[in-house]
This record gives sequence, structure tokens and C-alpha cells, in this order.
Amino acid sequence: MRIAVLISGKGSNLSSVVEAQKAGQLGSATVEVVIADKHCSGLLVATNEGIPTVVADSDRNIVIEETLTQYGIELVVCAGFMRILPKQLVCDRDWQVINIHPSLLPLHPGLRAVEQALADGSTKTGCTVHYVDEFIDHGQTIAQVEVPIQESDTPETLHVRIQKEEHQLLPLVIKQLALRRQ
Ligand code: GAR
Repeated sequence: MRIAVLISGKGSNLSSVVEAQKAGQLGSATVEVVIADKHCSGLLVATNEGIPTVVADSDRNIVIEETLTQYGIELVVCAGFMRILPKQLVCDRDWQVINIHPSLLPLHPGLRAVEQALADGSTKTGCTVHYVDEFIDHGQTIAQVEVPIQESDTPETLHVRIQKEEHQLLPLVIKQLALRRQ
């Protein structure tokens, strides 16, 4: 299963997927290309592993579509990609699109999900991997993991614990999707 990973930031989720692939824990899935919407440190994760990178900082959606087609991509993984993909890139395509989000969706969609969970007094939050549709953080949930919120938590400490779970969950989901495709 040929994967493209889309990123905007530091790429720790990308790194967890690449490490899982190297450890033989991603089934038949392989990261073929990494696409970013801007120059960001996560691109180094890809270049250090010899994975091709594309920076789609102008004509973004056209470049993304051309790249997915060029690499024969079957699964698009949004891993900290902070842009909305238009309907024509996510619906009725040769590829499926999934996203990882730092909350228990449908709670706390959109930006600043970790801050939202703290602000509304939740006792738990977590992370969700879901299919992407044309709405923000909205498509069908594939898997979720809960993370308890502690009284002393700041957005930073809570996000660190959520990310620990993300780094386990995302490779697991990719492996399961790859198994289903065989
Ligand atoms: C992750 O925590 C991911 O869940 C979040 O961005 C972070 C990216 O971290 N995504 C969203 O908030 C999407 N709405 P990373 O660049 O280290 O993987």
C-alpha cells in the first residue's frame, strides 16, 4: 500500500510511521513521498531516510493532486497537516485519506484541540484517527485512544502525553488498513 504523508510541522507522527516501517511493523505499507504545505522541520525526517519530499507552497492543491497521482498513492495520511483538503481531493478518488487529531472527536475539532479540552474542564481527552471528508475533523472514526487529564496539566504537558499515544496509534491503523487491502 503506497502512502503519502502530509505534514506542516515537526513531523513526530511521520517519524513514528517511518520507524514502524523500518521495524517491519507497517505490513505492506510504504511511505513513498512526504508533502508539506511549507518548509518545516518535519521534512528532515523524510530526507534523512531518502524519502522524496514535495513542498506545495503555491498552487497547493494542484501540486498535491499531481504528486499523489505521480506516486500512485493509495493512502494519504494527514499527520499534523494544518490545511483543509478540498472535496475533489478526498471524495471518490483512487486513494483514501486519513487524519490524526489530538482529541476524542467529535469533541474539540479544529485548531487548538488540546487547549479546548483543558478549557472546558474535561477529565479526559485523547487522539483520534479518522477518514477525511470535506468537513473539518469530521469523517468516520477508525480508532481512538483516551488520555486522562491531570489537574496540573498545561497544554504542553497534555499534548506530550497525547502524542505518545498518537505515535503508537497511527502506525497501528495504517498496518490494519494495509492488511484489509490485501
Ligand atoms: C499532532 O498532535 C496532530 O494530532 C495535530 O498536530 C500535531 C502534529 O505533530 N494535528 C492537528 O491538530 C490536526 N487538526 P507532529 O508534526 O509532531 O506530527
